[in-house]
Amino acid sequence: MAKEPVRVLVTGAAGQIGYALVPMIARGVMLGADQPVILHMLDIPPAAEALNGVKMELVDAAFSLLKGCIFIIVWFKFQMVLLLLLMLLRRALESILQSWLVVSQGGRNGKEGCYVKECVYLQVSGFCLGTACSSKLQGEKNVFTKVLVVANPANTNALILKEFAPSIPAKNITCLTRLDHNRALGQISEKLNVQVSDVKNVIIWGNHSSTQYPDVNHATVKTPSGEKPVRELVKDDAWLNGEFITTVQQRGAAIIKARKLSSALSAASAACDHIRDWVLGTPEGTWVSMGVYSDGSYNAPAGVIYSFPVTCRNGEWTIVQGLAIDEFSRKKLDLTGAELTEEKELAYSCLS
Ligand code: LMR
Repeated sequence: MAKEPVRVLVTGAAGQIGYALVPMIARGVMLGADQPVILHMLDIPPAAEALNGVKMELVDAAFSLLKGCIFIIVWFKFQMVLLLLLMLLRRALESILQSWLVVSQGGRNGKEGCYVKECVYLQVSGFCLGTACSSKLQGEKNVFTKVLVVANPANTNALILKEFAPSIPAKNITCLTRLDHNRALGQISEKLNVQVSDVKNVIIWGNHSSTQYPDVNHATVKTPSGEKPVRELVKDDAWLNGEFITTVQQRGAAIIKARKLSSALSAASAACDHIRDWVLGTPEGTWVSMGVYSDGSYNAPAGVIYSFPVTCRNGEWTIVQGLAIDEFSRKKLDLTGAELTEEKELAYSCLS
């Protein structure tokens, strides 16, 4: 029997990431080749024409899994028209009880000196979206709604969304660090000249920012004689503790420099990986990195959205416990945790 369609809301749908993401969703890359979807695509007035173009392309692509498209243009100018925004977002969220919200509009682009702007951004996107979700879903059963925040600062945007959408369980609000996780896999695969699919169990700890810690201490590579630790095969701790880490940390900025645009293809692909594994489960013996509400595991600060190694079963993630953390790693985990605590304080000071 054919499955019921799942509703997926993509915000910033006409933007770079949205444009790369919606065909992947409509083709079944995110939720499976047998899962019909209804797309709810949201953007702001300057993107209305572009969104219409995306609509035409979606018709032209004749995706057999795509059972409907709903387009929403949101007019807003900071908090002044919050009420209108809420009304429109309520329309976007109509009848979505089992859905994924993919918040994908652009963020800080790795530029320096825009901390205050980020804060305002948090207020506008996080507060408004969160309040809208909350207002629509308050009191309703929405335990199925799963949220992936992509827009930067992704971890803290997700935290603000959690604050203002209290009827969505905290465990259902996550942010994207799978992009960094995949980047780490890619770097190891290039270094060792092995298939990327043979590398697994890298970890991204902390923030989706340049303080994130890509950790290979538990990562392995499949070889003809079994799984071998990455460190044993690379035989170059200086590279693993130096250039590898900074390359992954700064990959987003390097792509912006090269493309004059932020990463969209890899971000959209990682968003699909994130939700697919969350919903359909991680393979046996494999973990992935997800930004999730921290319970203080590994002495990370509790109450921030922190990236951990997780496994997923039955639509739920679980932090992998008991991994050894050496002194070098401890410092890196603490550094990125401190940045998240600082971002949280800044965001809350703007919102109060
Ligand atoms: C990325 O990691 O590619 C992006 O988060 C970069 C950015 O600042 O948009």
